Amino acid sequence: MALVTTTEMFKKAYDGGYAVGAFNVNNMEIIQGITDAAGELKAPVILQVSKGARAYANHTYLVKLVQAAVELNPEIPIALHLDHGDSFELCKSCIDGGFTSVMIDASSKPFEENIALTKQVVEYAHDHGVVVEAELGTLAGVEDEVSVEADKAMYTHPEEVVEFATRTGCDSLAIAIGTSHGAYKFKPGTKPQLRFDVLEECSKQLPGFPIVLHGSSSVPQEFVNIINQYGGNMPGAIGIPEEQLRQAAKSAVCKINIDSDIRLAMTAVIRKYFAEHPDHFDPRQYLKPARQAVHDMVAHKIVNVLGCDGKA
Ligand code: G3H
Ligand code: 13P
Ligand code: ZN
Repeated sequence: MALVTTTEMFKKAYDGGYAVGAFNVNNMEIIQGITDAAGELKAPVILQVSKGARAYANHTYLVKLVQAAVELNPEIPIALHLDHGDSFELCKSCIDGGFTSVMIDASSKPFEENIALTKQVVEYAHDHGVVVEAELGTLAGVEDEVSVEADKAMYTHPEEVVEFATRTGCDSLAIAIGTSHGAYKFKPGTKPQLRFDVLEECSKQLPGFPIVLHGSSSVPQEFVNIINQYGGNMPGAIGIPEEQLRQAAKSAVCKINIDSDIRLAMTAVIRKYFAEHPDHFDPRQYLKPARQAVHDMVAHKIVNVLGCDGKA
């Protein structure tokens, strides 16, 4: 199977009551860990590349590595997606350069500007057989120090989604229901709670339309504890409870984004490995268990959170 767009994946996920995992990729080991797990579990998967990942690894390296993963996993659909594209030029470069899906994230701009930029990307993408994810609402973590008023304003306004989707022609929509990026999503001591009422209202307004959740790492405490035990310092790192993501995956949410959990899994394993093998200096020795940790974490998500095993 060649690289695919997310159209068919999302249709099946919507109808089947599960979600597809969108995992951020930055190097070969991450791509291998994710696609080995998805291949073994016969799960569709989205590999997503941020602007920062592209700057780190180079567009061509990432595309060719993903093409290798596609060749080695012919039985599962794999999409290559631009994560948080911030300009028409960046989206165009990825569309021209082999991506099957792009996100234009103009969510920080006023409504009309978000519509105009998203529409421009959609027109170019659709002319080239590529699909577009857009965003309405603001994701903020505890480090963003928002007031109660601002807090209310951050969530996606359900009354705006129909006009936005219709006028832009976007293929999927990321909404803000309380998730946030990074490893510090909630103040320690508070109860993490996603706004399922906002999700439900948005999906009622857009029946059949794929919804996307960003900032959906769970920040497993087993990784945080290993990191802290072996010289790290991540007090108060908290993510989205898995049961809430499982609930979201059964709804109109068709794509769930995970990056921080990959970083935590690799960092935990590598810190432990260095502590236990102070004399080792061959990168293959510590990258091998790090790749395995990515594999195991992704396999766990596919089966226990996304529910997309066997759906390829
Ligand atoms: O949502 C952002 C992703 O986690 C990518 O992060 O820009 O550091 O590559 P990055
Ligand atoms: P996390 O930081 O929760 O993994 O979110 C990743 C993400 O949304 C990438 O777009
Ligand atoms: Zn994101």
